[in-house]
Amino acid sequence: MKLLEEKIKADGVALNEHILKVDSFINHQIDPILMQEMANELANHFKVKEITKVATIESSGIAPALLTSLALGVPLLILKKQPSKILNQDLYQTVVTSFTKETNYELTLSKKFINENDHVLIVDDFLANGEAATAAIRLIRMSHATIAGIGILIEKSFQPGREKLEAQGVEVYALARIGNMAENFISFL
Ligand code: G4P
Repeated sequence: MKLLEEKIKADGVALNEHILKVDSFINHQIDPILMQEMANELANHFKVKEITKVATIESSGIAPALLTSLALGVPLLILKKQPSKILNQDLYQTVVTSFTKETNYELTLSKKFINENDHVLIVDDFLANGEAATAAIRLIRMSHATIAGIGILIEKSFQPGREKLEAQGVEVYALARIGNMAENFISFL
């Protein structure tokens, strides 16, 4: 998506080969017009898939996912992070390892909001190693719901997230795909 690539070039900051800061328009301060255009593009791409729910992982995924769910006219499910396993029969639960943050956390989803008739679009801001998205797929599949695809704002294509998700039979659609980065340098695929 040209608009997002231009915004990343103008206001994104490549700290090094691995980390892109987009705090001024996605992660901390949000540009609502751009966010809505991005969500509309995701909704437009996936609208043929008869989606019943959009799901995201708190917290930065909520803004794009909410606007995508609004455009598709379906509810938004927020997969919640918990620091450690709590036994709760009302929740589906799975562990996620974050390489970037070097932590483990438990991802949870209430059984009451999903069932085998749901066809779910996952939306998130970044795709890096694909661990969070893989855990989201695992969690949703526990309920026997199906995955319609994954919509991502920014994919770091030099990391293995896309391959990992496609290997699970899931379509990945990313609005900006970064081929490589260095300090103050960003190139798109
Ligand atoms: P993975 O899920 O793809 O395996 O990614 P990883 O564990 O490596 O990433 C952990 C967190 O770091 C995620 O946010 C992810 O969105 C974020 N992240 C990864 N790469 C970048 C980057 O280059 N720039 C920025 N700004 N964020 C990045 P999270 O822990 O879920 O946090 P939240 O912001 O959603 O609360």
